[in-house]
Amino acid sequence: MASSSSLLRLVFLILLSLSDSAIQIMGVEFGINYGQIANNLPSHSRVSTLLGSLNISRVKLYDADPNVLLAFSKSNVDFIIGLGNGDLQNMTDPVNAQDWIQQHVQPYIGQTRITCIVVGNEVLNSNNTQWMAYLLPAMQTVYLALSKLGLNQQVAVTTAHSLNILATSYPPSAGAFRQDLAEYLQPLLNFQAQIDTPFLINAYPYFAYKDNPSEVPLNYVLFQPNEGLTDPFTNLHYDNMLYAQIDAVYSAIKAMGHTDINVRISETGWPSKGDADEAGATLENAQIYNGNLLQRIEQKQGTPAKPSVPIDIYVFALFNENLKPGPTSERNYGLYYPDGTPVYSLGLQRYLPELYSAVSAAGTRVLPFFVVLVSITTFLMLI
Ligand SMILES: *[C@@H]1O[C@H](CO)[C@@H](O)[C@H](O)[C@H]1NC(C)=O
Ligand SMILES: *[C@@H]1O[C@H](CO)[C@@H](O)[C@H](O)[C@H]1NC(C)=O
Ligand SMILES: *[C@@H]1O[C@H](CO)[C@@H](O)[C@H](O)[C@H]1NC(C)=O
Repeated sequence: MASSSSLLRLVFLILLSLSDSAIQIMGVEFGINYGQIANNLPSHSRVSTLLGSLNISRVKLYDADPNVLLAFSKSNVDFIIGLGNGDLQNMTDPVNAQDWIQQHVQPYIGQTRITCIVVGNEVLNSNNTQWMAYLLPAMQTVYLALSKLGLNQQVAVTTAHSLNILATSYPPSAGAFRQDLAEYLQPLLNFQAQIDTPFLINAYPYFAYKDNPSEVPLNYVLFQPNEGLTDPFTNLHYDNMLYAQIDAVYSAIKAMGHTDINVRISETGWPSKGDADEAGATLENAQIYNGNLLQRIEQKQGTPAKPSVPIDIYVFALFNENLKPGPTSERNYGLYYPDGTPVYSLGLQRYLPELYSAVSAAGTRVLPFFVVLVSITTFLMLI
């Protein structure tokens, strides 16, 4: 079994190297958001197979779905799991926090690598002052419960923010948080510096383009060749908006007295479809954005202000999620359709998902391709 699957991989690699447009991207270190606001997604075990075949080894969930954690047991995948905003108040009680970890983390962690708990998503941008007030206490209580259970070295505690918590994002060196959030962010940053966990940000250059397509150069947001922008204070040159956004967050954190916290991208992506008023939401742009992003990651690039810190990114999202509310774009961020076929081709998904969909009998159109592969493999196994 093991040898035939490595043989299969070899065949893929041979086929890949024969394809002139192939991008050698399988070893790229990036994560993916596995959202499940849909009623038509493949089973968790199929998803585990899919991600394994793509060599994607980091997955972010928005909850702690035990079915997912079980399906990925003994896999090579590192999980970020989530606690919802509605759970924040409950988690400020040490007994509940410990219970939650004992129910949702401890039973799985021996088999499934859980490396981080994201406590709340975009809370400071929610306008919900209760959630905002409970955020840090919940993070602290979850951290203490992990310590008590001896898991705090293994499992990090953080939260994920919307980029809208910035009041100033350009030029990057002038990046600053909203003044009204300082009372929450200052103690949050102090705590995260103390426990040494990354500051997570959901960053979508797409929104900047959609809101202002006549002013924002599309090539700048898509990582395509363009003139870029130079920060007048630092003289650093930016050839894409995402890097400028990351550095703006570093500046905002620095303005609050911290140079000891890393910034990571917990979500970024581009919709492949949108409503008539959603400028830029096209299949081609999504393919260009995510394809160029993966190449940057593969090159282990840092941002202009942090050239030696490679960008660390979770792409949003694995699947199109048909039950997400809001404009059409919201249901079209996926790299995959629910049947396992790619929405568009990226280097890494050129070939393997086709195997996946042929096996799952969802995409009979690629069956001939699959038959050829099996024949080659069988032949190789016989010689
Ligand atoms: C899979 O990814 C890891 C890093 O995540 C890399 O070391 C390895 O070479 C990759 N394997 C293949 C077949 O690309
Ligand atoms: C609070 O958390 C505990 C532990 O996970 C759970 O059993 C309980 O149902 C939660 N209560 C509410 C109101 O969510
Ligand atoms: C919060 O309130 C502001 C001002 O009323 C509004 O523009 C923004 O969309 C709200 N944010 C959310 C996440 O509801």
